[in-house]
Amino acid sequence: MAEKSYKYIILGGGVAAGYAAREFVQQGLQAGELAIISKEPAAPYERPALSKAYLFPESPARLPGFHTCVGSGGERQTPQWYSEKGIDLVLDTEVVEASVAQKSLKTASGDVYKYGALIIATGATFIKLSDFGTPGADAKGIYHLREVEDATALYEAIKANPNGNAVCVGGGYIGLELAAVLNMNKMKVTMVYPEPFCMPRLFVSEIAAFYEGYYKEKGIEIVKGTVASGFESNEHGEVKVVKLKDGRELPADIVIVGVGARPNIGLFKDQLTVEKGGFKVDGFFKTSAENVYAVGDVATFPLKLYNELRRVEHVDHARKSAIQAVQTIKAAEAGTSVEEYDYLPYFYSRAFSLSWQFYGDNVGDAVVWGAKGADKVNAKFGAYWVKDGKVMGAFLEGGSADENKALATAARNQVPVLGLDRQELLFLPPSSTV
Ligand code: FDA
Ligand code: NAD
Repeated sequence: MAEKSYKYIILGGGVAAGYAAREFVQQGLQAGELAIISKEPAAPYERPALSKAYLFPESPARLPGFHTCVGSGGERQTPQWYSEKGIDLVLDTEVVEASVAQKSLKTASGDVYKYGALIIATGATFIKLSDFGTPGADAKGIYHLREVEDATALYEAIKANPNGNAVCVGGGYIGLELAAVLNMNKMKVTMVYPEPFCMPRLFVSEIAAFYEGYYKEKGIEIVKGTVASGFESNEHGEVKVVKLKDGRELPADIVIVGVGARPNIGLFKDQLTVEKGGFKVDGFFKTSAENVYAVGDVATFPLKLYNELRRVEHVDHARKSAIQAVQTIKAAEAGTSVEEYDYLPYFYSRAFSLSWQFYGDNVGDAVVWGAKGADKVNAKFGAYWVKDGKVMGAFLEGGSADENKALATAARNQVPVLGLDRQELLFLPPSSTV
């Protein structure tokens, strides 16, 4: 049992960890000051690749190709990068106990790590249907997706079941992105979700109708308004049938479950203030304990723009919150300060040749333009959400880089609108009033 001490420790080796490490290096880091402890076997990578290019039938993405920070155009930080910078990358190592009072972390093998400052970046874990007691939900062939090992197992299952039946349970990000790659792999795909339309936490029915229509044209079956109530397996324990609550039964060789994620807060939940499922932090990502920061999926932070506390499970925030925490730590050391985090929510998804972006808040009335009859090959349509006469959120399918920038500006500046049917709004200079 070894005991080691570091000036800084990042707990978790995902997206936020990779961007935090880069920021430490940019701000000035001595060899031996920083350790990253991760239960994953790989150095931090751009997690979004796992539900997209990692599963492509041709030339799938593989590590080391997508280590952070390539996702935002930065350097590819391979394990060698970390060793060259004097950062200890402690992989395949799960922290099982933590003490904020003693500033220590204990790993599964009993090693103890002491820190001066800690950044918690433990992300989230998928929710399983067995968590709700759904019978048969632990059968072989039922997959979840969070880490590279999950994606590798799924990739192998796809290859082992050419032209087989796949069922995607859940109509959110995982359901939509996975249904697309399974279809690209020539599997017969059925999606099942309880809501009346897909991606209900962001879309309105007109937006969803476009994607559902597109998926149906690709040959994907969509079953709405019901849930998976059980699974039947063969004599080898391999899933063969998905039973639905409405009585239907779907044949399945592979099942993907994407029914949401739960932030990994267990190690500290009785030691730090928790709100909205995450560690409550201030605009500098400081938790309720001194020298302990929380970033990415586990942080519930003040969203200054809307004057409320929020937790965000998307990659842009994971990157930016990590940078903010490191800049705060380094500024305090230098006796200076940084500006409070002032985040504009940004989400995106890609599937087939489709690609959408959303900025801001989906509150108020949604005004959708161009979705009906949108050209499915070069689809371009959008929506904006209007509250108190101002644009609060803006969505665009098929936008160019400049158009997406305009979208962000409209949502950031909350441009006033007089009419609700003006798609041009999103393409006007930011100071314009329509
Ligand atoms: P992240 O999950 O990246 O990292 C957490 C790390 O902590 C992991 O390495 C984990 O193993 C480790 N860990 C946890 N507990 C530990 C312990 N006790 N001991 C040691 N290590 C521990 N977002 C988006 O905006 N666009 C997109 O296209 C996608 N696509 C996408 C695809 C898939 C498949 C997933 C699962 C998620 C996305 N996301 C996304 C969401 C995005 O990836 C997510 O918000 C960020 O990865 C969050 O970054 P974090 O660093 O907070 O957690
Ligand atoms: P999600 O919250 O996006 O979607 C969950 C969906 O599960 C719901 O929309 C609903 O349709 C369905 N559902 C809920 N309970 C169900 C039940 N009992 N039976 C059947 N369906 C049920 O979560 P997700 O798609 O699982 O994504 C997991 C995490 O990964 C999230 O944090 C998400 O933000 C992240 N992710 C993000 C992206 C992206 O930003 N492009 C891509 C992939 C994953």
